[in-house]
Amino acid sequence: MDSEKQKLLEWIDQRFPLTKVWREHLSQYYAPKNFNFWYVFGALALLVFVNQILTGIWLAMFYTPTAADAFASVEAIMRDINFGWLLRYMHAIGASAFFIVIYLHIFRSFLYGSHKRPRELLWLFGVGLYLLLLMESFFGYLLPWGQMSYWGAEVITSLFSAIPGIGNDLVLWVRGDYSVSDATLHRFFSLHVIAIPLLMILLVFLHIVSLHKVGSNNPDGIEIKERKNAQGIPLDGIPFHPYYTVKDLFGVGVFLIIFCGVLFFMPTMGGYFLESTNSVPANPLTTPTHIAPLWYLAPFYSILRAIPNKLLGVMAMASSIAFLFVLPWLDRSPVRSIRYRGLWSKIALTLFVVSFIGLCYLGTLPVSELRQWCARFFALIYFAFFLAMPFYTRYEKTKPLPDRVKK
Ligand code: HEM
Repeated sequence: MDSEKQKLLEWIDQRFPLTKVWREHLSQYYAPKNFNFWYVFGALALLVFVNQILTGIWLAMFYTPTAADAFASVEAIMRDINFGWLLRYMHAIGASAFFIVIYLHIFRSFLYGSHKRPRELLWLFGVGLYLLLLMESFFGYLLPWGQMSYWGAEVITSLFSAIPGIGNDLVLWVRGDYSVSDATLHRFFSLHVIAIPLLMILLVFLHIVSLHKVGSNNPDGIEIKERKNAQGIPLDGIPFHPYYTVKDLFGVGVFLIIFCGVLFFMPTMGGYFLESTNSVPANPLTTPTHIAPLWYLAPFYSILRAIPNKLLGVMAMASSIAFLFVLPWLDRSPVRSIRYRGLWSKIALTLFVVSFIGLCYLGTLPVSELRQWCARFFALIYFAFFLAMPFYTRYEKTKPLPDRVKK
């Protein structure tokens, strides 16, 4: 480094721990050497999050959060404002991309037992982020003020009425009116652009801080910190920078190619990323024949619909997410990674993924007798995965762990 740059760095370091942070969290942060494909989704989650924030800021410059003008302002963004269509598609497709990335990120934790001790808090911050993401997408979906926006919000807010005693007052309080209206749109806009993103930024920070405190897990699920050399460096660790910054950048490149493919060639993804019903302006007097959420909320909607009793349906839906919070304590396996778990864990995880995808698909379709029974069957598997976990993880036969991570 030439002396001018060196002097500048010293000047900064005396006032802010730049070099220290760089070393501790990048160039001398030792991550397991055996990260695979599944470890790229954390970095991708950061990328899509930044995309949502930046495109969201620009959209908010042209969007009007009133019942009278919201739909028209989105139409103007799509047709009149320079590159408005690009911003809106990046944001709408970005929402689906966020969920795809997060579902794969969560699946990785299931695969390698990353939720287990000592990463419980890291996991809990993650589940908190997932919950916020669900809320963020729900609030955001009302903003274009199309038919599906309106009726989706109407159906979901009405669920609070199932709570005995205070239910109806709660619905009124949430909506700010007797039905979804201008007041509802205003508050959803405020929550979507300020409150939830701020909370998410805070939780992402806490998520990363706790990750760097305990260190990353890896596909073998064994602690690399337990075997160190004379300098105190884990034998199976490599510096995050440049090894994993380069690997993550490659992942970013592949992701962007796929993202741009969708963006430019099939932005609505056949109705899965943007529904055609939502290109009709909201009309409180005409209910669409089929009300369905976007695919990423559909599994929970399926569970809700599968149970005929409203209160029980809402409770089942809420508990389907609540189980994630207690997962670290349900999993009693002596090993972390699926590589060393027994057959039962493998069968359970496979069935869980099949049931989740099944619920997701059914939730986007209109109901029929047969579909209802299928949804009930998948919901049963979904809950059995969590409820039976303490037993099959504890009593199944696991494989012996190796001393060091494999390549
Ligand atoms: C905005 C959302 C999120 C962002 C930006 C994010 C970011 C990250 C990053 C950068 C990593 C390190 C790289 C990696 O291991 O892939 C990570 C690790 C992790 N995340 Fe997330 N995450 C998010 C949501 C979640 C959610 C929803 C969960 C679980 C419900 C979760 C659970 C975990 C766990 C357990 C690890 C450690 C994995 C291991 O060491 O094997 N994260 N996250």
